[in-house]
Amino acid sequence: MHAEFLVLEKSPALHGSSELSGAKNAVLVIMASLILTSGKSTLHNVPFSHDVFQMISLLESLGAQVFIDADTHTLIIDTSNISSCAVNADIMRKMRASILVMGPLLARFGKAAIALPGGCLIGDRPIDMHLNAFARMGAGISLDGSYLYAQATRLNPQRFILSYPSVGATENIMMAATLTEGKTTIVNAALEPEVFDLIAILQKMGAQIEMLPAGVIEIVGVKELKPVTHTIIMDRLEAGTLLLAAAVTGGEINLPRAPGSSLEVFLEKLSEMGHSVDIGIDGIGVHLKATKSPRAVSFKTMPYPGFPTDLQAPMMVAQCLADGTSVITETVFENRMLHVRELQKMGAHIELEGMVAKIKGVDVLYGASLIAPDIRASAALVIAGVAAQGTSTMTGIHHLLRGYQDLCGSLQKLGARITVQSEVS
Ligand code: EPZ
Repeated sequence: MHAEFLVLEKSPALHGSSELSGAKNAVLVIMASLILTSGKSTLHNVPFSHDVFQMISLLESLGAQVFIDADTHTLIIDTSNISSCAVNADIMRKMRASILVMGPLLARFGKAAIALPGGCLIGDRPIDMHLNAFARMGAGISLDGSYLYAQATRLNPQRFILSYPSVGATENIMMAATLTEGKTTIVNAALEPEVFDLIAILQKMGAQIEMLPAGVIEIVGVKELKPVTHTIIMDRLEAGTLLLAAAVTGGEINLPRAPGSSLEVFLEKLSEMGHSVDIGIDGIGVHLKATKSPRAVSFKTMPYPGFPTDLQAPMMVAQCLADGTSVITETVFENRMLHVRELQKMGAHIELEGMVAKIKGVDVLYGASLIAPDIRASAALVIAGVAAQGTSTMTGIHHLLRGYQDLCGSLQKLGARITVQSEVS
C-alpha cells in the first residue's frame, strides 16, 4: 500500500507572485445549487480540489452529467436528467458539505434521502439548524438507521431568526426558499463572501433574493430557475494561507487577484504584527513584505467579517514565531485546536485550555514528524515545516488535497522546499 507524505525543509524567505484558485467554500454550495435548475450550467474558475471531485461524484450519483475541463478550470453541469434524490453514505461520509444538496433536492423534487454527513475532526458538526428549518417549512424529517429522509408535498415560507449565523444553514434555507411560494426571511444570516457568491448565482438563475441591512436575507419564491454561467470568486482562505507562508519565512509576496476587501480583519492583524501589507485598488490584490521582528498578536475567531476560523491554525504558526505572548480563542468550532499538539512537537510554547491557546513566541521551531488532523491544520503544518529548522514529514495530506487545489505547488514556486514521497508498506 502506498502512503504518501510530505517532506518539508527549512526554506529561504518566500518571494514572488502567486495566482489563486476559486473559493472551495463557494464552489461546493454553488455546485449543489445547480440541482434547483434543469439544464446545462457552466462554472468558471473552479478549484479542482478533492472536495470538488467528491461533489461531482455526488451530482453524478443523482443523475447529473458533469463535463470537466481542468485546463480552463471549467465545469459544465447538466441537471436535466436528475432522477435520484438519495445521496449514498460513502459520499456523505467524506464530505460534510454534501448536506448542502438537501435544500435544493427538497425544493425541486420534494424529497431527499441522505446519510448523516461526515466531515473532518473539528467537532460534532451538527445539522440541527438545517433540519429544524426544513421541518418548519413543512418537510417531514425521519431518521432510519444512518439515513435521513425528508419529504414535503410543498414547502411553506417562514421567518427564521438564526441563533447563530451558520453558513451552511443560511445557504440551505436560502436555496430551499428560492422555489417556495411566498416570502422567506432569514434574520442573523451568515455574511461570508461565499454566501454572497451563492446569492449572485441564484439571482442569475432568476431567484428573487435580497440581502437587507444587518444580515437579513429576504427570498420570494419563483416557479422555476434557469441554468446559468458563473465565475467562482477567488479563495480568500488560500490567499491568507499564502500570505502567512511569506510572513513566517520573512519573505515578500504579491497576490494580484486576492480579494483583499474580504480579508480586512486578518490583514489588520498582520499589520499589527509589523508586516507591511498593501491592498490594491478596489480591494483587489494584496502585497506583503514581512518584518524580520514580528510582534505577537491575539485574536478570537468570529463569523464574518470577524477573524476567519479557517485561518486560525495558519495564523497560530505566525504567533509561535513572533515576539511576545498571544492568546488565540476559537469560538466557531468546539474542537479546532488539533494542530496545537503538532506544533508543540516542533518546540512551540502553547498552553491550551479548551479552545483558548496561550502562545509564547520562540526564536525557532524544529522539524518533526507531523500528522495533519484537518484541512486548515494541514496548511498550518506545511507553513510551520518550511519555516522550521531542519526537516519535517507530514502525513494526512489527503486533508490538504481536500481543501486546496495545489497549495504545495504554489509554495514551491515561491521557493518553499516541499517534496511528496510515498512509503511502500
Ligand atoms: C462552513 O462550514 C465552511 N464549509 C467551513 O469551512 C467554515 O469554517 C464555516 O462555514 C465557518 O465559516 C463550507 O462552506 C463547505 P457553520 P459550516 O454552519 O457551514 C455549528 C473549511 O475548512 N452548527 O457556520 O459547517 C457548527 O457545529 C471548512 O473550509 C450547529 O450547531 O459552518 C459550528 O460550531 C471548515 N448546527 C458553527 O455552528 C447547525 O445546524 C459554525 O458552523 C449548523 C452549524
